[in-house]
Amino acid sequence: MKKLIIANFKMNKTSQETRVYLNELLPLIDNADKDVAICVPFTSIAMGKKCLKETPILLGAQNVSSEESGAFTGEVSARMLKEAGCKVVLVGHSERRKNFKETDQQINLKIKQLLNNNLSPILCIGETKLQRDTDRTVEVIKKQIETCLSGLYENELKNMVIAYEPIWAIGTGKIATKKQISDAIKLIRKEISNYFSEKVSKEIRVVYGGSIKPENARELLSIKGLDGLLVGGASLGAKTFSQIVNA
Ligand code: 13P
Repeated sequence: MKKLIIANFKMNKTSQETRVYLNELLPLIDNADKDVAICVPFTSIAMGKKCLKETPILLGAQNVSSEESGAFTGEVSARMLKEAGCKVVLVGHSERRKNFKETDQQINLKIKQLLNNNLSPILCIGETKLQRDTDRTVEVIKKQIETCLSGLYENELKNMVIAYEPIWAIGTGKIATKKQISDAIKLIRKEISNYFSEKVSKEIRVVYGGSIKPENARELLSIKGLDGLLVGGASLGAKTFSQIVNA
């Protein structure tokens, strides 16, 4: 399977800025041997759809409602994202967990909404610095996997991506070691094997996120069992992001 490189714009880039960015990016990654997904703010989805038409690049959103429809002012449903042209959607990003108090239970409902609408969830999990320093990383990852994936069918899982993003590595310039990433990947696959099957634990894509730059991308991509990268800050410049895609 090709490696998957995902851009997460976070709350950056208007629709027009997204257009300028994509027009610059597309020729730079024309010959890439990897799959690419770009997760834009809701207001840039329409522009993303227009610019990415007839390209293999996957358009993505950064959040979705845990509800199907109804009186939920300000929310955006999975069906709306599907119709708007999204293929993948980030869920459970640590910034949403921390700033908007999203729980594993809510994230589980969001994943179900996405799968019901044939969208691929990119589930973000990972520990805080305190949790790592107090040897709770394994416990935290196990709990996140168990609750977020609860009640799903094995055949739905192969359409998902799990992003291991240690919170202490996000936007800090501190990158997890290859051993830390490798241990997390093994643990994630083991838990999925326990709850579902060994087959799907091998098929599901597991990617890493946290302070990725063109300088460290190639080295990270050599980690056994790692299927790609989730890039925040370094995805905001088309040239920089293209260097990661071409790493
Ligand atoms: P940075 O690449 O800026 O550390 O962000 C990672 C991230 O949160 C991607 O979702």
